[in-house]
Amino acid sequence: MTVQDDAKLQKIIDLDKKYYMNTFGNRTPVCFEKGEGVYLYDTKGKKYCDLLAGIAVNCLGHNHHALVEAIKSQAEKLIHCSSLYYIEKQAELAQKLVSLSCCDKVFFSNSGAEANEGAIKLARLYFQKRGLKEKYEIITLEKSFHGRTLATLAATGQEKYHKSYKPLPEKFVSVPANDIDALKGKINENTCAVMMEPIQGEGGINIVDADYAKKVRLLCDQYDLLLIFDEVQCGIGRTGKMFGYEHFGIEPDIFTLAKALGGGVPIGAFLAKEFVAKAMEPGDHGSTFGGNPLACAAALAVLNTIEKDGLLKNVEAMGAYMTEKLNEIAAKTDLIKEVRGKGLMIGIEFTSDIAAAVKDALLEKGFLVGTVGSRVIRLTPPLIIKKEDTDPFFAEFEQALTGGMKQ
Ligand SMILES: Cc1ncc(COP(=O)(O)O)c(C=O)c1O
Repeated sequence: MTVQDDAKLQKIIDLDKKYYMNTFGNRTPVCFEKGEGVYLYDTKGKKYCDLLAGIAVNCLGHNHHALVEAIKSQAEKLIHCSSLYYIEKQAELAQKLVSLSCCDKVFFSNSGAEANEGAIKLARLYFQKRGLKEKYEIITLEKSFHGRTLATLAATGQEKYHKSYKPLPEKFVSVPANDIDALKGKINENTCAVMMEPIQGEGGINIVDADYAKKVRLLCDQYDLLLIFDEVQCGIGRTGKMFGYEHFGIEPDIFTLAKALGGGVPIGAFLAKEFVAKAMEPGDHGSTFGGNPLACAAALAVLNTIEKDGLLKNVEAMGAYMTEKLNEIAAKTDLIKEVRGKGLMIGIEFTSDIAAAVKDALLEKGFLVGTVGSRVIRLTPPLIIKKEDTDPFFAEFEQALTGGMKQ
């Protein structure tokens, strides 16, 4: 590492501190310059194994030829026009997502929050158009995370995100996950939907019980409610199935996607069954950028690559392998309370507040992991990851825990 390399990073940090709003606090003092496969390289030339993938975004890793080629060739033809016109890649991507899923229609957004905002609007619109004008209340789960717009903050069942932004849009209520009586107790004649992440990401990698999910589906049917699944983090192969709901033996009426859908190019989506989707009529919703040719070409390349390269099988196998290895480490230390997750969405919960210290120790050794709160490490590596990429990580992780990390 040269003095110049250090100076380059310092210059970027200085610019950030001076000009960027300070919502991220003291960021990790690293700036990445390029990536290849599951590895990233910083301004000092240091190599990192990326076990976070931009928080479940870079599903094909970095610089994947199929994704890069799709973006390049689309950019050379047409980056953006407007959804005032027909868009070939938008239509093709809509067809692809519908053919892969339980839903019949789709609308594209630019982010997860926007996709969820669209899902919330659609649920309310559906009942409005049936003349049920008071049926707009939405039940969500505690520890959920649905985004940073005002409505998706209101839907988010974590008070810490609400506090500075009140008044938030009304008529969202959250209940503890896996407590069907608590959920039933909140249903009234104005309830229109239940919205949940089948696997909570920001809440700490919490999977809802399959039995609970089935009961929620039944309650929705019984009380004329829509079931909305937020699959922004767990969708697109992350759990070993293309969509998270496939693990639970039920189908949502509406579900949302973002993060991995474009492999790093911003795109989100909400999908719905025909009986709900038909509530959306001309003028009811829109987006300038949503579903533009570039983003849709990227998303098509992502979906085609997941299928063509059999990545769901890899996720299943690597998820099982990583969980087994992590459980072996857990058996050797009192510091790990639980290893949980599905596929390559893995949470490691510690018995004390050491997540940040473990993350920093791993960073030093060249491994990128995420934290959720003070006790959970989150692993969401690219879906292309192989055993040989992860083995050095297990050795360093074990070393970090057994080599003097304090309770
Ligand atoms: C489950 C879930 N929903 C919604 C969002 C918000 O997505 P975005 O940051 O793209 O708006 C996130 C982001 O972490 C998420 O994990």
